[in-house]
Amino acid sequence: MLKRFWLWLGRLLGKLLLILLLVGLVGWGTGEAYYAWKFSGPVSAEEQIPADEAALTQTIIEDAIRIVEQHRDNTRVLRDAHAKAHGCVKAEMTVLPDLSPELRHGVLAEPGKSWQAWMRLSNGNAYPQFDSARDARGMAIKLLDVPGDKLLSSKATAGDQDFVMFNNSVFFVRDVAEYKQNFAAQADGHKVLAFFPSWDPRSWEIRHLFIALKTLAPAPDSPVSATYNSIAPFKLGPHNIKYRVVPDPLSCPPYQLPEQNTKLPNFLRNALYQQLSLDRVPACFALQVQRQNPQHYMPIEDTSVEWSEAISPFVTVATVKVPAQDFDSREQNLFCDNLSFNPWHALPEHRPIGGINRLRKAVYEAVSVYRHQRNDAPQAH
Ligand code: HEM
Repeated sequence: MLKRFWLWLGRLLGKLLLILLLVGLVGWGTGEAYYAWKFSGPVSAEEQIPADEAALTQTIIEDAIRIVEQHRDNTRVLRDAHAKAHGCVKAEMTVLPDLSPELRHGVLAEPGKSWQAWMRLSNGNAYPQFDSARDARGMAIKLLDVPGDKLLSSKATAGDQDFVMFNNSVFFVRDVAEYKQNFAAQADGHKVLAFFPSWDPRSWEIRHLFIALKTLAPAPDSPVSATYNSIAPFKLGPHNIKYRVVPDPLSCPPYQLPEQNTKLPNFLRNALYQQLSLDRVPACFALQVQRQNPQHYMPIEDTSVEWSEAISPFVTVATVKVPAQDFDSREQNLFCDNLSFNPWHALPEHRPIGGINRLRKAVYEAVSVYRHQRNDAPQAH
């Protein structure tokens, strides 16, 4: 009797498993087919600005300031995002000597030209946490003494051309409207529900939830071993592009980072210190750009969509070298904290485009001004 019951239960569970597998396969297949259809065909090569974007931006600024205040530590008001730095290091960007003429614009106009820069490496979270926590990792580069009027600048940042990236290739929202809804829900503590704004399944953003989960990834071995993406699009002269910074170890002396104790809270800073300050070995990267081909689905107004590398591969336009150096001093860490990176600290040839970038213009500026005032600190670039 008992044996027959177990056999019956086994068969039932087997059938259930098969049904679940089939449902999963059909769901996956339908999703693939749906996105292949939705993400196909030509897109606009121009920006399209929704009428309510300015009003939405204003409310996002208010939410951002609220979050900055929530997370302030005992002594200082930190950034609203990427609050924890692994260090600010000196770097040098050099335009490829044989850069193709159609890509020679802005800071890339002169082949062989070198720019001095600051590079800030960070965790993405709104407040500092252990480096072992799943998170995005950021890289911000600020080229110094770049001549020419910028799209946005203060006295301190007049000579700056900034590149602001993190280590995922897509963003977890498409545009300002979705950012507003998602950010407000997350600020109220609804992490996953933020992607399910109503009972109507048409409003569910399951694909974006997966992007958010993937963005919160385990730490790389070192901040200089990750690839960092602009995610949002930019101009490069007449072209629409995305850019990224990839490790280029072959351009540097060979180096094997000794194994780090990843249980230590700041092991990414330790890894940087070990390579640059103790072992005195530089780190090398390449700056690459990918051009939009509007005949294919490479949208400007949707940062959740990756531009296909099969259709438009990234090409190297400059090298970025981080020389061996001492960077972990009290003065330099404070200086680093008081830096302001903003994708709109840019020459018109590198104009940020798309809704998420338009949003960033006002938000970065407002949060930076706010934290500098609250800390009674001068803006250092
Ligand atoms: C393409 C998508 C984005 C990327 C690649 C990105 C990347 C970064 C990085 C790397 C930093 C740190 C910069 C530093 O080291 O000082 C940063 C800061 C910041 N991000 Fe983003 N971010 C993106 C989108 C956004 C959006 C949509 C918002 C909100 C509207 C936002 C708000 C901020 C704020 C407020 C700061 C701090 C600014 C400051 O106080 O100086 N970011 N971001």
